[in-house]
Amino acid sequence: MEIRLAKTAGFCFGVDRAVKLTYGLLDEGRKVATLGPLIHNPQTVEDLERRGALVADTPADVPAGYEVVIRSHGVPRSIYDELDARGCTYHDATCPFVKKIQKVASEAEAAGATLVVAGDMSHPEVQGIVGHTRGEVFIFSDLAQLKAWKGPSDPQKPIFAVAQTTFQVTKWQESSEFLKKAYTNARIFDTICNATWARQQEAEDLSQQCDIIVVIGGHHSSNTQKLVQVAARHTRAVTVETASELRPEWFADVKTAGVTAGASTPSSIIEEVLNSMSAEINDSMSFEEMLNASEE
Ligand code: F3S
Repeated sequence: MEIRLAKTAGFCFGVDRAVKLTYGLLDEGRKVATLGPLIHNPQTVEDLERRGALVADTPADVPAGYEVVIRSHGVPRSIYDELDARGCTYHDATCPFVKKIQKVASEAEAAGATLVVAGDMSHPEVQGIVGHTRGEVFIFSDLAQLKAWKGPSDPQKPIFAVAQTTFQVTKWQESSEFLKKAYTNARIFDTICNATWARQQEAEDLSQQCDIIVVIGGHHSSNTQKLVQVAARHTRAVTVETASELRPEWFADVKTAGVTAGASTPSSIIEEVLNSMSAEINDSMSFEEMLNASEE
């Protein structure tokens, strides 16, 4: 069995920045509370807790003397107001790609526009985005929902349309085509982040060359689930959070296995999964050789 590792597997820029910021604060001996789990990776969250970090659901849950880290998903405007009102010191690790969407949401409010968001309404990034406008909002997760929408309450209202940074690229393309035709006053902002584009594109390519794709990532990670959906269009796709979830029977008759990982997956876990898969075969490359090959 040959194993091919995606070049884009692992931490994206925004997650890397948030994780480094938090470990940096802990290294300086500060007391740190993150608003929600810092990333969708339970092993990293547990490690942060071992180092003394707390996970707080709301600013009201942050004990006195703790500094708050806002994670890369971002938060609604009301959370900044609450942190200020409570006099909390905070460090904002909102990913700049998410900040850009929050700014569009504020501009939609100022322009009296309806904000249309392609994404998952239960995802914290989407809740954060819609929390930056007090105007009308419509959230959809697929083209059927968008087509069923009756449009803004006032047909004259402009529309500002954005996508969650990890939205599935092909779904966004068909949705924005529909919006352009159905609403001539719609402004479309292409807000899927580069890391997501590159990851999904590579998952698509890899899935056409492999008998199976193993996607490593948190079971609650949105971008990990999107990678599984993209890969599953062409081949068998499975997802694991750690090496212990790999099943030998998946690899029976497999000649080429592809491996990719969500944006919140640390390299140590990728290494562990590759090593477990390699242990099944004698002639496979080491983890370092695979990394080198994927960088060529
Ligand atoms: Fe930012 Fe994109 Fe990662 S939005 S947090 S770089 S997936």
